[in-house]
Amino acid sequence: MKAFAVLAGCVVMTAATMVTGADNAPTAPKKKPDVGYYATTQDVVEEILKQAKVTKNDTVIDLGCGDGRFPITAAKIYGCKGIGYELDPEWVAKAKARAQTEKVTDLVDIRAEDIFTADLRKVTVVCLFLLPELNTRLIPQLEKLPEGARIVTHEFDIPGLIPDRKTEYISRQDESEHLLYFYSVPLKRAPVGKRAPE
Ligand SMILES: C[S@@+](CC[C@H](N)C(=O)[O-])C[C@H]1O[C@@H](n2cnc3c(N)ncnc32)[C@H](O)[C@@H]1O
Repeated sequence: MKAFAVLAGCVVMTAATMVTGADNAPTAPKKKPDVGYYATTQDVVEEILKQAKVTKNDTVIDLGCGDGRFPITAAKIYGCKGIGYELDPEWVAKAKARAQTEKVTDLVDIRAEDIFTADLRKVTVVCLFLLPELNTRLIPQLEKLPEGARIVTHEFDIPGLIPDRKTEYISRQDESEHLLYFYSVPLKRAPVGKRAPE
């Protein structure tokens, strides 16, 4: 199934979970996630970090981190700092447990917070696997990234910005083609109302 359909379905599922789970569920998130969980396969995670040219000196953040695979993998492979923002308490717990299992708790910080509150001023690599409209809503925060910072989006672009490049990668794990969009700071604005050219 196409990722867009899966993620769009996740929005509906998340809303439904919130309605049924709201009654007395002690772990119900303060704010419901804007989209549900769907994982990036591990080989795509590693390819994204490689193509983003992550080094030990980077701070890698995943906005909507799920089980924390982006910051945890970055810390394990490159020894850099990693941050994950996640609103779903179940995934926050899983990400924290995974960071412990992988012995990277000194490098990785999993925050049970809304992505739209994230301060990106000291972040150098941003990973996103969100729907396009959410990516666009993040632009005001992305504009505060330091010069030279990189942004990589999985499957969906950032309407309103022009990517430096777009690549395709076939995952060995799900045998599907994945679209990867690369941006860098200073960001390149697309003409208002127009999508970046393919
Ligand atoms: C499609 S999943 C991607 C998970 C992970 N980044 C990956 O690529 O494997 C999106 C994640 O974002 C989280 N999320 C959605 N809206 C959020 C928000 N406003 N603040 C924090 N997390 C959010 C969801 O709970 C979900 O785990």
